[in-house]
Amino acid sequence: MRESAFSPKIILIGAGNVAWHLGHRLREVGIDVVQVVNRSAEHGRALAGSLGADWTVDSSSISRKGELYILAIRDDAIASLAQELKNFLPENALVVHTSGGTPGAVLSASFRRHGVLYPLQSFSREQQVVWEDIPVCIDASTEADLQFLEKVARNLSPKVFKVTDDARAIVHVAAVFANNFPNFLFSVSELILENERLPFDLLRPLILETARKVQTRSPASMQTGPAVRGDDATIARHQQYLERYPELAELYRTLTLSIKSRHQK
Ligand SMILES: NC(=O)c1ccc[n+]([C@@H]2O[C@H](COP(=O)([O-])OP(=O)(O)OC[C@H]3O[C@@H](n4cnc5c(N)ncnc54)[C@H](OP(=O)(O)O)[C@@H]3O)[C@@H](O)[C@H]2O)c1
Repeated sequence: MRESAFSPKIILIGAGNVAWHLGHRLREVGIDVVQVVNRSAEHGRALAGSLGADWTVDSSSISRKGELYILAIRDDAIASLAQELKNFLPENALVVHTSGGTPGAVLSASFRRHGVLYPLQSFSREQQVVWEDIPVCIDASTEADLQFLEKVARNLSPKVFKVTDDARAIVHVAAVFANNFPNFLFSVSELILENERLPFDLLRPLILETARKVQTRSPASMQTGPAVRGDDATIARHQQYLERYPELAELYRTLTLSIKSRHQK
């Protein structure tokens, strides 16, 4: 349930996929993003315009009145931008990042009050998301800030989890296996079909059903295909076809071996 009276002043740093979705969700639940700060004017202006917020490209013009500064920028830029912002923000500013794979501690050299607000979903600007379903993992350097972040997060989604740096790093590894790798494998299927002038649409229902099944069952118990069946004749035919794609043949071999070693004990 949204807490309508709760409207802290939020400064959004970044204007990429996460900043875009986060900014619009905050606006949707009645929390104003007062300023967007972004390296490139084009993206910053576009996001700020659609949020009705101020914007700047200049770190020295960042508002000092924020109650929460959210760094939604590339992982490898977080530490250095935090160091830069330290010169312009009040000493007691609360600064968080949105990264699953980056320790909250990268902010500790610059800010005493720091934390993480990691929405566990794959965000692309052009693709809508259902915020009510998104787990939001939070962490903070003090108990008071953790409580404050929990309040912000509960306005985004009812699924809020307090997750330490160590646990979040593990969740992030698991998320890479659950999302990044399967998506890459979808793109491999797309490439193979395209090269044979076949439509990727052939596979869309299969992909959807695979994702649907694991909503209620363990993926391990749902494994199908030649590797889990030990169907070596089919595997050999696939490998023969894949000789024209040496990299994919290697990927096929590795995944097949991995499935066999997990399932044929
Ligand atoms: N996308 C996801 O699915 C997802 C999900 C959860 C968490 N996250 C995390 O959220 C954060 C943002 O991810 P994203 O997907 O929104 O990234 P993104 O779409 O690639 O946007 C990156 C943002 O970082 C800015 N940026 C890049 N290099 C910079 C630098 N050196 N200094 C200052 N700003 C810089 C970019 O500015 P310009 O506009 O000028 O290029 C842009 O605003 C990351 O920590 C990521 O791990 C991502």
